[in-house]
Amino acid sequence: MDAVRASTATAGPDPAAPPAPSAPDPAAPSPPARPPGGSERLTAFVRDYCRLLPAIEHVEPHQALTTLADFLVRDFPAAVRHALDAGLAEPEIVAALAPLRAVVSRSDLVRRAQEQPRGLPGDFEMIEYILARKVTGRPGTFGRLFDEYLQHSVVAQQHHNKIAHQAALIEAALTEGRSAVGGYWHGPPRRILLIASGGAADLRRVDPGLPAPGDRFVLNDMDPEALAHAMATLPARTAAHVTTVQGNALRKAAELASEGPYDLVLAGGLFDYLEERPARALVRTVMQRLCRPGGTFYFSNIATGNPFAVAMKYGASWPLIEREEADVEEVVGDAASHLVADLDIRRDPTGLTLLTRIRRAPDPTPAAPGSVAGSGSAPDPARVPGPAPAPGPETAERG
Ligand SMILES: C[S@@+](CC[C@H](N)C(=O)[O-])C[C@H]1O[C@@H](n2cnc3c(N)ncnc32)[C@H](O)[C@@H]1O
Repeated sequence: MDAVRASTATAGPDPAAPPAPSAPDPAAPSPPARPPGGSERLTAFVRDYCRLLPAIEHVEPHQALTTLADFLVRDFPAAVRHALDAGLAEPEIVAALAPLRAVVSRSDLVRRAQEQPRGLPGDFEMIEYILARKVTGRPGTFGRLFDEYLQHSVVAQQHHNKIAHQAALIEAALTEGRSAVGGYWHGPPRRILLIASGGAADLRRVDPGLPAPGDRFVLNDMDPEALAHAMATLPARTAAHVTTVQGNALRKAAELASEGPYDLVLAGGLFDYLEERPARALVRTVMQRLCRPGGTFYFSNIATGNPFAVAMKYGASWPLIEREEADVEEVVGDAASHLVADLDIRRDPTGLTLLTRIRRAPDPTPAAPGSVAGSGSAPDPARVPGPAPAPGPETAERG
């Protein structure tokens, strides 16, 4: 175990420890409350782990796992937080981490994240890579061991959970209020929008027998390759119902609205990259222009407390914007409180992802002559207002 223990984590002399206190001068102004030695501690952390990480090739598996966990969730965050508290600027921290970033780039997953070959973190290929639990490199090498560790971490698992949740929401939207009698679906056609769909791994999991004639899936992504990948990998019966709209979702509202309104709008993963203003703008646009009255808007957001957050940001150039329940409530409330009938925020089983579901308030029922405005019967949840319903009988053959 000693062979893989970081000196930054042991009880020995702490290179960052403050010097022995001298008698305080009561006239002196109080010094800023900053721990000294931020860069020394960071340098020691980098030096130690440049040695310790490759050494996991030669130790027992449980020792390797301990080293990787200590590195990612204890010592990396501690060293960076110490450096930030000591006043180091982010570029200085990244520069000091360069040798360590080179070591961890032996993991293909990390190298891909660092290099951002599609020009942004968390591109569709990364998501597919994670969902396939892909590991590369020669068995037993550090790069492969690191890949394996990451692919079985909670932060990878939350992607799997999120995609399964999104697939279940799509299936529910396709079947809710409908009945399949003798192989025929009864009920009006459905419209479902996937914003920042990536390769549509969620839709790919949906039973291709569920979409009925007239149902439409609209896939939006700013990366044309993501949409091409989605079309190439969706089951043919599902792909037959798909329209794609390429471009930044925040600038494509008119085009997306022309295909709507939607029974369900999904934005899986996107809020992890949206600051407050664009996040509010997107919620407002979806609630006002895209989601039908009575329809559902779902989005996910990485939650605060991701134990890998610091290592992801500084080691793999993959920063995420974390939120907690109260933050999501604030974003939604500021953007569209008057349109919200229900707001449900829950966490995936890892606790690392917030899964938010908003039901848009139904339109007020038009007052019948002689009645009190708004006192009519509950609206039909399956009703699709807006464009004329697809031609043909309401009884649709199962696709
Ligand atoms: C944000 S994730 C989401 C992937 C998938 N929806 C999921 O739940 O895992 C990655 C995708 O979002 C796309 N993307 C990021 N920002 C976007 C934006 N403003 N508008 C449209 N697509 C965006 C990227 O091109 C990438 O394919």
